[in-house]
Amino acid sequence: MSSAPGADSALMRACRREAAPHTPIWLMRQAGRYLPEYRAIRERHSMLTLLATPELAAEITLQPLRRIDFDAAIIFSDLLQPLTGMGLEISYEDGIGPHVDKPLSTPRDIDFLAVPPAAESLGPTLRAIEIVAADLVGGGKPLLGFAGAPFTLATYAVEGGTSRAFTKTKTLMYSEPAAWDRLMTKLVTVLADFLVAQARAGAAALQVFDSWVGVALGKEDYIRYVQPYNRQLFTAAKAAGVPLINFSTGTAAYIAEVAACGGEVMSVDWRMPMEDYRQRLGEEKAIQGNLEPVALLAPWREIAPRVDAILDSAPAVGHIFNLGHGILPETGVDTVARLVDYVHARKGGPR
Ligand code: CP3
Repeated sequence: MSSAPGADSALMRACRREAAPHTPIWLMRQAGRYLPEYRAIRERHSMLTLLATPELAAEITLQPLRRIDFDAAIIFSDLLQPLTGMGLEISYEDGIGPHVDKPLSTPRDIDFLAVPPAAESLGPTLRAIEIVAADLVGGGKPLLGFAGAPFTLATYAVEGGTSRAFTKTKTLMYSEPAAWDRLMTKLVTVLADFLVAQARAGAAALQVFDSWVGVALGKEDYIRYVQPYNRQLFTAAKAAGVPLINFSTGTAAYIAEVAACGGEVMSVDWRMPMEDYRQRLGEEKAIQGNLEPVALLAPWREIAPRVDAILDSAPAVGHIFNLGHGILPETGVDTVARLVDYVHARKGGPR
């Protein structure tokens, strides 16, 4: 039994596929730029300062929960943080996103990557988790930790930023399989240790983000170049002793192969209806998702039927309402609050 706050909350019950008093809901990127209070802090501090200062990271994590009745907090950090400890230099350019200053360009570069323990290289995030977990005890809400999956982190390390075609990553993968194996193995080691450390610091569940794998790879390449490493990561992260959420996008064509890597909860995108995801995933897994993020920019009369359709076709136990990917900065805060209240007001299971 975990002593983390929120162990018996609606969200944790859904992770364990137990009946819950309401369908739990949180949104990826709920701590971020759609919130005026986030933008206010961000005006005063750089992204790197926020990431390196546990008190500020804790404050940003709690901001969305102060005004919206989300069922969980997710620690404010960024996917690329573990790369810093491995020896890569990350910067954040306003409006563009993260940038790796000297991306990996030869197989030799991979041999120079360090594999430090999380306690050494990711201390500020672990400290922020301790602060938030202590703060959430009274409210009984769980805190989620997270890490990127090895493929998604490899794309940043090799391309240097967000990519369209993943040309360099896939060229490395196809042309230098031994170097690819060394890179993915190092990433698995660092990420597994980070996930376990987050649970020890107070995270009640952990999400693994494979944000770009489905955009980049077809099924055969996924099975050959990614699946073995994701299996290793989920297997090693079991030592955390908390539920694991397996997130990806664009993977509808091979969602069963993604699920086979591990995780109690599958976080699915909007490219396939909930019903079809359920059919392919079976009854063993809880499901998180699957509203299209852009739908939240539409009027409520367009949003409500989409939310209804998801709730009507979701499993009666083991559904966590979420978007299929992160909330967009343009989203109205009132729309988000209305969505959360609407999902809470609907009893779990079909009407
Ligand atoms: O609320 C939360 O979800 C917690 C915090 C969080 C951030 N990044 C903060 C952030 C989480 C979980 C992430 C994960 C992350 N980061 C992912 C995986 C999720 C996904 O969307 O697929 C990825 C791919 C990244 C990399 C990244 N970081 C990108 C592509 C960008 C730029 C685009 C964007 O949305 O800004 C970032 C920057 C970033 N990470 C911001 C925040 C709040 C914005 C920074 C700013 O204020 O300028």
